[in-house]
Amino acid sequence: MLYRQPLKKLPKFLPKFTFWQLGVFLSLLLGIVLFAWTVLSQQPITLNLLMTAPDAQPWKQGMVKEFEAQNPGIRINIIEGPNATNLVEDLYTSAFILGDSPYDLVNMDVIWAPKFAAAGWLLDLSDRISPEELKAFSPKDIEAGRYEGRLYRIPVRSDVGVFYYRQDLLAAAGYEPPETFADLLKISQALQKDKKIPLGYLWQGKQYEGLSAMFVEVLEGFGGFWVNPETLEVGLDRAETLQAIEFLRSTIKEGVSPAGVTTYQEDETLNLFKSGQAAFIRSWPYLWPIANEESSPIKGKVGIKPMVRAPSKNSGACLGGWGLGIAKSSQHPAEAWKAIQFFTSKEAQKQFIFQAGYVPSRRELFTDPDVVAKYSHYPQLLEVGDSAVLRPPLAQYAQVSDILQRYLSAALTNQMTPEKAMKAAAAETRRLLGT
Ligand code: GLC
Repeated sequence: MLYRQPLKKLPKFLPKFTFWQLGVFLSLLLGIVLFAWTVLSQQPITLNLLMTAPDAQPWKQGMVKEFEAQNPGIRINIIEGPNATNLVEDLYTSAFILGDSPYDLVNMDVIWAPKFAAAGWLLDLSDRISPEELKAFSPKDIEAGRYEGRLYRIPVRSDVGVFYYRQDLLAAAGYEPPETFADLLKISQALQKDKKIPLGYLWQGKQYEGLSAMFVEVLEGFGGFWVNPETLEVGLDRAETLQAIEFLRSTIKEGVSPAGVTTYQEDETLNLFKSGQAAFIRSWPYLWPIANEESSPIKGKVGIKPMVRAPSKNSGACLGGWGLGIAKSSQHPAEAWKAIQFFTSKEAQKQFIFQAGYVPSRRELFTDPDVVAKYSHYPQLLEVGDSAVLRPPLAQYAQVSDILQRYLSAALTNQMTPEKAMKAAAAETRRLLGT
């Protein structure tokens, strides 16, 4: 029969197949190809993102596990970066500039979106989320994620500068919490003189982004400004800026703040405060749960209030916070959007708040009964956040901030007089912005 005949046309070096044998061989081959394709297509997709190492822990322990359990086809790979926002920004920046970036999601500080969007590194998310859905978030937080009217970042966790005081010490000595810069110095010195506490006030004075965040608060408290994002006017060489610097310098001169404060980031100040060495600190809301841990020597002894200010001026709280965008170079934008929807959802945020003590980006959670039962001060944080001061949302923000950090640090460490330093900082900023 024909189908049992060897194939005559095959080259000589190949074994002779019958039609029947060839049929079996081809079916087997097809089976193998189909199997490999099915296995490969079921391999989970990995979404990479980078964040500061301390931030990564609560993400990995909570939200990421939950997301992966609900989405078996997607893995989240968090790469742990250095513990300073500007250093993480540099890593994202160099990856995007060099091309072939490994990142799918971009975990952005509130100040990065204009730069990243202007450089073309982010996907435009405007059409993926309705104006109705955006109303769930703080307007300032959403605005910070826009560039030229388009949206590039959805807030995951908000942050706002907070002033903490040792309730127990003030009550025992008969003081109200300080309202003004002058009160702060006076009460600190009195407590220190009476040997109630070694240090008065802790703030972040190292040359890094935290210095700019802290400084906008003092500047606002004296009625000054840094850069007006609308007019690009620069306020660094004005009298209010010099008063703000003078206040910070006086905290060191008077021994209210330790000399080392000009080398401290958030963690160094937190450690000193937590170990009971200082009466006051400027920090972020993450400090609260840490100060109130079971093992903390200052558990239950800490009060919180808006930042101190000059008489008749506004109290300034810096708007911080983190949100997610999608890298334009990502091969998996649909999965990345799914992850963003999950991480910004009410349920995921609630879990995140309880676990890490972070502040949500969804407004309703600030007053959610479960949340308030654990953190009674969250409704107050919502108010403080609504009137918070923004660092200028400019595409050149990183350079603008670098200029301020360098000259402010020089003024605080007595390498330059404040006048000379701010004159130079203002001139350099104007040159950069072309004003
Ligand atoms: C916090 C804030 C962030 C800020 C940083 C400064 O992480 O959320 O906005 O830039 O501190 O250190």
